[in-house]
Amino acid sequence: MSAKPRILVARAIFPDALAKLEESFEVQSNQTDEVFSPDQLRNHLANVEGALVFGSERIDQNALSDAKHLKIVANISVGYNNFDVPAMTAAGVMATNTPDVLTDSTADFGFALMMAAARRITESEHWIRKGQWDKMSIVYNPLGMDLHHTTLGIIGMGRIGQGIAKRGLGFGMNVIYNNRKRLSTEDEKACGARYVDKETLLREADHVVLVVPYSAESHHLIGAKEIALMKPTATLVNIARGGIVDDAALAAALKAKTIFAAALDVYEGEPKVHPELLKLSNIVLAPHIASATEKTRRAMVDLAARNLRAALAGEKPPSLINTELWQK
Ligand code: DGY
Repeated sequence: MSAKPRILVARAIFPDALAKLEESFEVQSNQTDEVFSPDQLRNHLANVEGALVFGSERIDQNALSDAKHLKIVANISVGYNNFDVPAMTAAGVMATNTPDVLTDSTADFGFALMMAAARRITESEHWIRKGQWDKMSIVYNPLGMDLHHTTLGIIGMGRIGQGIAKRGLGFGMNVIYNNRKRLSTEDEKACGARYVDKETLLREADHVVLVVPYSAESHHLIGAKEIALMKPTATLVNIARGGIVDDAALAAALKAKTIFAAALDVYEGEPKVHPELLKLSNIVLAPHIASATEKTRRAMVDLAARNLRAALAGEKPPSLINTELWQK
């Protein structure tokens, strides 16, 4: 048996970060863009004490069924809907994620998508690339919607939602929010946000941004009924997870122009995108890159590696999700 603990790095990471892990661990790594099949993942997990994974790896009872030595699975992601946490806890496997380090980059991107949808930035670029910019016009050039001094509605007021609210204040926006739990008065004050119920938010907001974690409860949180409450001039941005928006219903609403525009970073069944969304011009599409700056992705890999190192050294990982394992 090897003296070094064995770990799996299930997706490609920065070469220098991988080399650092190889100094301390015997590493099985997948440095391709191919995602392991469930069988491949189960087989790899059977032979390691720790694993670094991304949202593409589903860690459930099946994946864990032969993982007799596994102590930790560290997600390189703040969202962990790819984890069946009760199954991990039952198997005695620590689950960790990467909060905080991506808050600002993700909030920046949410804001960028909102601006791009409202001001029709990608649509305008396509227009130029197609050679359609042959004259100037006051009324026919792509006319957008303002952000400044409008109402920003945020659904999901965790760290990223609060980051978006603070950016909205800089644009003179009136910020309203809905969240499972209302913020403290102090936190509401810090981001200048007023709590409202979901229906009020959808009716009043000029720009709706979704930042809620995915769960059975948030599946299709925004469907045809909810979109119908929105203003015809409103935009919808999803930087949370695919499945929170009913993409087919959104495509139908955008086609019928019952809302002005949308921007998505995440999709139901990604990397596949609903074919009806691809046909529309009043939507901005991004490939799940809200946290993808080099600095932030490095910080995420680094935090995931620190979580893994701590668990394998018998210490509490800095961002342990199933804390009950630590109390046992
Ligand atoms: C996250 O960290 O949850 C991002 O969506 C990347 O998966």
